[in-house]
Amino acid sequence: MLKEESSSQNRLIIKNGKVVNDDGMEDLDVYIEDGIIKQVGRNLIIPGGTRTIDATGKLVMPGGIDPHTHFELEMNGAKAADDFYKGTRAAVAGGTTTVIDFVLPQKNQSLLEAYANWRDKADNKVCCDYGLHVGVTWWSPSVKKEMQKLVTEQYGVNSFKMFMAYKDLWQLDDYDLYCAMETCAELKALPQVHAENGDIIARNTEKLLAAGVTGPEGHELSRNEEVEGEAVNRACVIANQAKSPLYIVHMMSKSAVRMLQLARTRQRTPLFGETLAATVGTDGSHQRNACFRHAAAHVLSPPLRPDPATPQAMCEALADDYIQVIGSDNCTFHEKDKEIGKNNFSKIPNGVNGVEDRMAILWQKAVNTGIMDPCRFVAVTSSNAAKIFNIWPQKGRVAVNSDADIVVWDPRLERTISAATHKHAVDFNIFEGQHVVGSPQYVIVSGRVCLDDGELRVVEGFGRFLKTPVGSPLVYGEGQERAAPEPELLHLDIQHKVSNGSPSPDF
Ligand code: URP
Ligand code: ZN
Ligand code: ZN
Ligand code: ZN
Repeated sequence: MLKEESSSQNRLIIKNGKVVNDDGMEDLDVYIEDGIIKQVGRNLIIPGGTRTIDATGKLVMPGGIDPHTHFELEMNGAKAADDFYKGTRAAVAGGTTTVIDFVLPQKNQSLLEAYANWRDKADNKVCCDYGLHVGVTWWSPSVKKEMQKLVTEQYGVNSFKMFMAYKDLWQLDDYDLYCAMETCAELKALPQVHAENGDIIARNTEKLLAAGVTGPEGHELSRNEEVEGEAVNRACVIANQAKSPLYIVHMMSKSAVRMLQLARTRQRTPLFGETLAATVGTDGSHQRNACFRHAAAHVLSPPLRPDPATPQAMCEALADDYIQVIGSDNCTFHEKDKEIGKNNFSKIPNGVNGVEDRMAILWQKAVNTGIMDPCRFVAVTSSNAAKIFNIWPQKGRVAVNSDADIVVWDPRLERTISAATHKHAVDFNIFEGQHVVGSPQYVIVSGRVCLDDGELRVVEGFGRFLKTPVGSPLVYGEGQERAAPEPELLHLDIQHKVSNGSPSPDF
């Protein structure tokens, strides 16, 4: 780690800004020393030689937390282009100061071994703090034992991702999913699910290829909204049977949100939903683009949806607390790697960019349009993830004793998103040409100014591994179980019950 700062640069005051937390905003100054927020208030008394950042007219928010990245992930014979250096550098450029990546073991591989490999890849490269979720991609008593180890202080993992899709690669059947969720509940860890029906996708893929549909447009056709919605419902049922909370990653459709909302009417354990910058910021029309490069660059799973109402509906779902978190699922592949699927859409490595533009895209689509206020923006881009993954208020809050991970957000800064200027390792951006108003001017990572009035000054290896302890109060604390469901909800007209009292009749 480079330690190039002189002591005065370890002291920083952000003056005249509006501090925005998930529960309110106020005009306050923020004083930082040695990576920690030491004072928040007005007329602060601080040591001489402290650097001042003038935040007049700006918002001072907790740095973003992106709980869904895949740096250097290997898939379909390719490796994701953004590594832990370039990926976290892009994150910081966009205002994100913590990422949580996924360790994905191969079937029959030791989870501990895969975890060690990921730490080796990441520890010396990350420009900001990072945590790890671990995939449960196969099941046996030894996997359970390794989960028990991974949640200890030594490893610091509190969340496990299970796949209902990617048959023969990472997919679990319902029995194994049930066992994995039960184990999570025993350990007070959080199960995460990729909700799509992998068996239906496999059969649809065979049929589409046999009918000569080989291009990227086949991707969504093989896995439409119903295929996602069914899996969301089934995941919720299994979690309920296992008496486990559940976090559904990358929800991409109105059908998925509707199923989650329906499950909430009948279940007692907490159910969390995550959507993606991609869903909010672009749409399914691009997968049908005549240019293979363009179409394939938009292929991720679950797919972008053809329903043009989806982006706004997802913003509303975030605003209305149907969904709690927006991540990126950043998993970029070079054009030559996407070409692995030139003659067969099912072989296109899945994934898109998003870690850099996640915050600006949501600001543009949801705050500038009046769908959500800045407090809710902070909740869904930062604080909720911190609470769910149990790193709050160390992360996700501008308050005394919190880590000095801060974004000075200029709500008037205008720019056009482009691969020509982005920090990703690839030369394609799914938000290409979009004009956004609102972006970070300064980004402070553990007290260090890493975006300095628009100039990116990250340090490779500056970030630390962030342990996520089990037993998050938001997930397992008292009062998190909802009241017992009213029995008639299980039997009566669903349409009526769900729309009754819900702010958005769309769901
Ligand atoms: O298309 C995606 N989402 N790629 C990354 C792997 C996953 O399922 O999250
Ligand atoms: Zn997934
Ligand atoms: Zn093109
Ligand atoms: Zn993912």
